[in-house]
Amino acid sequence: MFFSLAQAQDKDATYKPVLGQMGKDVMWLPTPNELVDKMLDLAQVTADDLLFDLGAGDGVIAIAAAKQRGARAVGIEYNPKLAAYAQAKVIAAGVQDKVRIVQGDIFETDFSQATVITMYLLPEINDQLRPTLLKMKPGTRVVSHDFDMLEWEPDAVVQGARSRAMLWVVPAHVAGEWIFKPVNAAPFAVRLDQIFQRIGGTITLAGRSQALVGAQLQADRLRFQYVADDQTIHTVNLLVNGHQMQGHDSSLGFSQPLSAQRR
Ligand SMILES: C[S@@+](CC[C@H](N)C(=O)[O-])C[C@H]1O[C@@H](n2cnc3c(N)ncnc32)[C@H](O)[C@@H]1O
Repeated sequence: MFFSLAQAQDKDATYKPVLGQMGKDVMWLPTPNELVDKMLDLAQVTADDLLFDLGAGDGVIAIAAAKQRGARAVGIEYNPKLAAYAQAKVIAAGVQDKVRIVQGDIFETDFSQATVITMYLLPEINDQLRPTLLKMKPGTRVVSHDFDMLEWEPDAVVQGARSRAMLWVVPAHVAGEWIFKPVNAAPFAVRLDQIFQRIGGTITLAGRSQALVGAQLQADRLRFQYVADDQTIHTVNLLVNGHQMQGHDSSLGFSQPLSAQRR
């Protein structure tokens, strides 16, 4: 449910949230402004983004995303009074054309359209959200105030005055067996192993297998190197799109188109 301007104004104007008041799964504590800035920097939020703050509190992150970066933002807040309070702050900040506070449960509200997720929850709540976050579009940035995502290691960490923020970039799912088709050479097989954003694998060329060198995955961009039969080093750069990849295989200054399909 979205709050309209009139609904927000109708709410109890004397309501003030209290630090530490319990929400459904975690209490309310606002992220300090200096860390809000660092979180928006970490996610490189721009006017092209749609940011969802999971557990919006008084709306500080959603409002800053719109005011400082020109982004659109949605805050999901379980407590109806706090949600109305946050919506009133949205209006007071003059960003109601870009920001909405939704009264709802983060476990029941769809945020799949987000390009950036922010959260200040708890490790066990992050852990429950993790499968949903990992199904989001590759490249979606997730920033958490203070709490990590257990064995899904952050891509970057920034320290604030009292607490830290961590960034994860949702990786494409690349694990499995792939058949690569160069334009002017025989097809070859690659097996990719993946643990979140960390990848490795094996390439099999003309019956000979070797470990991929320097395999990296960032969002939907995959890169690795291998040594061809003539001992030249090849660098492969690909864009992953579901069960397909498209890109180039470069060696000795020559670049050839390359496509791949998951078996
Ligand atoms: C620690 S505060 C963070 C507020 C804001 N994101 C910030 O960083 O300033 C967490 C907020 O999540 C809300 N909350 C707790 N459980 C929730 C749930 N299941 N769905 C939506 N909001 C929830 C709480 O009411 C509280 O306002």
